[in-house]
Amino acid sequence: MSAVLLNTVDIDAKLQNEPPQEILRHALEQFDNIALSFSGAEDVVLIDMATQIRPDIEVFCLDTGRLHAETYQFIERVREHYGLNIDLLSPDGNAVRKLVKAKGLYSFYKDNHQECCSIRKITPLKSKLLEVDAWVTGQRKDQSPGTRAAIPVIQDDRLFARPGETLTKFNPLANWTSRQVWDYIRAYDVPYNALHDQGYLSIGCEPCTRPVGPNQHEREGRWWWEEATKKECGLHGSNVRK
Ligand code: ADX
Ligand code: SF4
Repeated sequence: MSAVLLNTVDIDAKLQNEPPQEILRHALEQFDNIALSFSGAEDVVLIDMATQIRPDIEVFCLDTGRLHAETYQFIERVREHYGLNIDLLSPDGNAVRKLVKAKGLYSFYKDNHQECCSIRKITPLKSKLLEVDAWVTGQRKDQSPGTRAAIPVIQDDRLFARPGETLTKFNPLANWTSRQVWDYIRAYDVPYNALHDQGYLSIGCEPCTRPVGPNQHEREGRWWWEEATKKECGLHGSNVRK
């Protein structure tokens, strides 16, 4: 494991104006034990960039059991296209069973999404992050004015660090716009999720994602029944102001 010698705030200031490829290069040079979190959406650009630096980069996906069929098909295409053993993390079967037995399959529409996300995403993510020293996400500032406007390109992840240790989180696309991501996908013929051709911009679980219309922000297609400033599932909990 490599230690982070400079503090992350200083490194963040240095990397702010670098392109995502350079931020990724820095991340992969600093850390051997690092994993990239892939949601099955347009964050595939990170896989494209990272595999050019480290062809066998560790990639994981939180398989909530509620993803669209198109997303599962896309994950398989990415696996084959890049020759990656993508680590699909399933939630604890008993926890899911208990929730569904008590509250049914759509409790999040009444209760809000936190309980279901906690079982299907956060607990598996926590276990995965205990195995690594750093992780990479595809978060961008333009994805959510309510919660992501200030995300750094590198940060100390205090939410998921092992007790007494540091966990570093990289957001190489933080300063890229959706337009830049899509220019990259088109320019380099990067595979993408078929849902994007059906009006979906931001893609999460099937019951909690819908297509957006003209002039709607992409985040309006996620957890649309909840307030914009609360639309984080806990994966990126530090983005939410209490
Ligand atoms: S979410 O927290 O609202 O669901 P979003 O869909 O915007 O996140 O994706 C932002 C980043 O979070 C992705 O680029 C990816 O790094 C990570 N992420 C989101 N969903 C997943 C998932 N199911 N599996 C792995 N990583 C994910
Ligand atoms: Fe459950 Fe919806 Fe969260 Fe997926 S996004 S884990 S279905 S609440």
